[in-house]
Amino acid sequence: MYQPYFSADDCDIEAFKALLAQQTRAGDVPFASEIIANVPIYEVAALDLTGPERPALMAEWARVMLRGAGAIVLRGAYAQTRVLDEATEIYTAIIAEEKAQGGSSADHFAAGTNDRVWNSLQKLCLADADVFARYFGNLAIDAASEAWLGPNYQMTAQVNLVYPGGAAQQAHRDYHLGFQTAEVSAAYPAHVHDLSPVMTLQGAVAHCDMPVESGPTKLLPFSQAYRAGYAAYRLPEFAEYFDAHCVQVPLKKGDALFFSPALFHAAGANSTADVERMANLMQVGSAMGRTLENVDRLAMCKALYPVLSGTPVTPQVRAAVACAAEGYSFPTNLDRDPPVGGLVPQTQAALFLGALETGMPQSDLFAALDAQAARKRA
Ligand SMILES: [Fe+2]
Repeated sequence: MYQPYFSADDCDIEAFKALLAQQTRAGDVPFASEIIANVPIYEVAALDLTGPERPALMAEWARVMLRGAGAIVLRGAYAQTRVLDEATEIYTAIIAEEKAQGGSSADHFAAGTNDRVWNSLQKLCLADADVFARYFGNLAIDAASEAWLGPNYQMTAQVNLVYPGGAAQQAHRDYHLGFQTAEVSAAYPAHVHDLSPVMTLQGAVAHCDMPVESGPTKLLPFSQAYRAGYAAYRLPEFAEYFDAHCVQVPLKKGDALFFSPALFHAAGANSTADVERMANLMQVGSAMGRTLENVDRLAMCKALYPVLSGTPVTPQVRAAVACAAEGYSFPTNLDRDPPVGGLVPQTQAALFLGALETGMPQSDLFAALDAQAARKRA
């Protein structure tokens, strides 16, 4: 039967339970090194992220996020955690500075003792482009993002620092439809509910060890596949089922977690006396969607080029550029910025990478970036 819309009346807890009764078997996830509470765990050091295995690995991750448990853990996404410490120091300073200025960093889904750094992507790049290049020049994050969203994804990031005593969040889904009220969500047709989860990817990088008592993200495996889930997650019986059956995977500093934004999830309570749980949350957007945050990618490109110019264009450099520069041609102004020599106008990322490859002087690139931005303006 054709289902035009989803409302609370369309939510069936028994169908939900049947969906969640699935198990992740080792044969489903051949690249995984272990499975914890249905969530496949990948040892990044053992993966071939740039060679011939990459397409099969990305296909496995996409399958898990679409039809499997809905989440993957990348153990040791950062083999060297020094860059995380450097970023933590910068973020801690930004939090102190923003507090001193009296800024508000309210959380969407939890009350209490936490701090946020919104747009931690741009803020890190402009504070220290060298740290940014090493932090986001990360092949595991790049592969996970591309696996779910395809190329030219749009990275955004937000730091969440939860202090001891910090409350758990309520079960929810994420951006896009997960951030809307039940009423607004119900106004979007059912096929848009199917579309929303493939427009973003949710991730988190652990900046410290996160034992279960510190509150790593609570997950409900397989719940992303429940079609009416945006209408269901607020309903008391679904929220209670979440609380009774959610799982938590302890993370080590340098691990990353990625999951479908449609997965029912919630940050856990920090019941430790002394763990300040810092994660950099990544909300990665499809090239074809609107991202959560406006990011000044022109300013980031100008901060990053002096750090990267003169170095070989390695896969890590490409990953860092993918997180900084705009990788998609649209929206643009087709009067001023027509396709030249192809179907689409040149992207900021293509201009940036071309400059790196040809050793373009900084002043020439900055002029070209400014000219490109002016062509694209409405
Ligand atoms: Fe969330």
